[in-house]
Amino acid sequence: MRASTIKTLTIVLFLALISEGYGKCLLSDISVRQSQTGVMVKGKAEWSVSITNKCSCVQTNVVLNCTGFQSAEEIDPSILTVTLPPKLGFVKPGQAINRDEVVSFKYAWDNQFSLNPISSQSLCP
Ligand SMILES: *[C@@H]1O[C@H](CO)[C@@H](O)[C@H](O)[C@H]1NC(C)=O
Repeated sequence: MRASTIKTLTIVLFLALISEGYGKCLLSDISVRQSQTGVMVKGKAEWSVSITNKCSCVQTNVVLNCTGFQSAEEIDPSILTVTLPPKLGFVKPGQAINRDEVVSFKYAWDNQFSLNPISSQSLCP
């Protein structure tokens, strides 16, 4: 290989690494906020959850840790689909979540569940 070819390849690789590093959202870019609504549903406290994409890129396949999650209140599966048994929760399955978009749902149970984000895919330009 000629020296100029090697130089070009090195630059291409370097740029690829940079765009990889900068073109990704962090899990901390997904904010999960919860508050008690004060309403009781079937004898359980109701909780309101707001998930916000704080990344500058669109995100998809956002998964929350829904280990042990239960709700006496039905949740729209297009907003949150929880696996059976409850382990993973898919936020807006199959749909993109835009920058600063807030996805909200409510659930009802005796206790609050932590619902931490465990994975997501970022669609950075
Ligand atoms: C999910 O949450 C459960 C219970 O809070 C915890 O034990 C587990 O380690 C978490 N899993 C991940 C992948 O964070």
